[in-house]
Amino acid sequence: MIEIDPLRKAAAEVLRRNDRGEFTAPSPRQYPHLWLWDAGFTALGWAALGDFERAYREVRAALRGQWRNGMLPHVVFYGWPSAYFPGADLWRSDLAPEAPTDLPTSGITQPPVLGFVIQILFQHDPDRQRASAFAREAFPALRAYHRWLHTARDPEGIGLSRIVHPWESGMDNSPLWDAPLSRVQTEGLPPYQRADVHWVHEEQRPRSIEYDRFLALILHLRSHRYGESSVRSSPFRVYDVLFNALRHRSEEALFVMAQALGEPTGEIEEWLERSRAAFQTRLWDPEIGFFLDWDCGTDRRIPVIAAGGLVALYAGLATPDQAKEMVDRHLRNPKAFAPNGGTRYLVPTVSKADPGWEPRRYWRGPIWINLNALIAHGLARYGFHELAEEIHRHTLALIAQSGFHEYYDPRTGEGLGIGDFTWSAALLLGWDLLSG
Ligand code: GLC
Repeated sequence: MIEIDPLRKAAAEVLRRNDRGEFTAPSPRQYPHLWLWDAGFTALGWAALGDFERAYREVRAALRGQWRNGMLPHVVFYGWPSAYFPGADLWRSDLAPEAPTDLPTSGITQPPVLGFVIQILFQHDPDRQRASAFAREAFPALRAYHRWLHTARDPEGIGLSRIVHPWESGMDNSPLWDAPLSRVQTEGLPPYQRADVHWVHEEQRPRSIEYDRFLALILHLRSHRYGESSVRSSPFRVYDVLFNALRHRSEEALFVMAQALGEPTGEIEEWLERSRAAFQTRLWDPEIGFFLDWDCGTDRRIPVIAAGGLVALYAGLATPDQAKEMVDRHLRNPKAFAPNGGTRYLVPTVSKADPGWEPRRYWRGPIWINLNALIAHGLARYGFHELAEEIHRHTLALIAQSGFHEYYDPRTGEGLGIGDFTWSAALLLGWDLLSG
């Protein structure tokens, strides 16, 4: 039996240590600036500690980076300059006419979690006046962000937002990207020095060929000043299940918020309807029985079974039959995600049956706490309460054994990547809040 109180205490200490005042660094050494989806998870951690003021400050810090076209950038460079690479000097957000002029940011976004995060904060803040004031303040920014996701990022109007860089998925080097990324040319890439392998062993990080392509893509997007032409011309264009599921979950939340604030709901209802349809017609693969990403370069689904597909459950995007099929054929299958002689913990980021599976390399197999939390709550939404509990128990066991690591080896539970990682701590604290 794992004792939860000492874990909570240790988690609160991680949050406090990584608190930079204006924002909370995901890791002061490895990621010393603000990251968009990290800020959302972190805010839940502060709220779970009862510090709603601090939670709101986290969200505000993310919103401060918003571009005039509505985009919320994936990194806001508070505290720049630092040793982080690629930094503000490579991104050059100043080249984009829509970017803030007083604060450097990256030029791409990350999974849209803030919509449901602000609804959770609104629902749980005991100070109702403060809760309403913050909701009123944040709602227009979030609505503008989602409008941008539905226009700039859906140029063909199919009801899904495309990502134009693997980093926008949050799952940087997932095998999902192997095929679309292989089309990115790296000739003429200037020499550069990676900083991510300074604190973490390179066998746990992306390979150099991937890193070259990550950078070549940034240079491509930058040469278009991150404008609409970059979204059409990017050699990497994918409709990602995780990204769009979180977009949908956030829009469910924005719908509730709009009602509470007396704002019109028609536009949001339309968004919800369109993504429900697109998940069925485009992303559900009836043969594999799973939601798969879509490669706009080949106009085909990407045949990689990744844990992100299960996050469709968190957004209620599966029919009950589809949910059951994903669970029975994949999540409970010891050859895919479930423990077997080789692995002991749920949920590896990629099915073990995938040829790209690597249990120690970043997003190619290890367990990440944020995906576990989203998957567990998705399962609960569909009535798979025991499985949801099992994932929670495994998560606690990993943290009890190895601390608040960035990711974990699903075979041994060994902590990998950087230690004292903020969202692992924040979600241990805020786990229950994700139920809505
Ligand atoms: C890594 C992760 C990304 C996260 C960032 C900061 O780039 O892949 O998902 O947001 O670190 O923690």
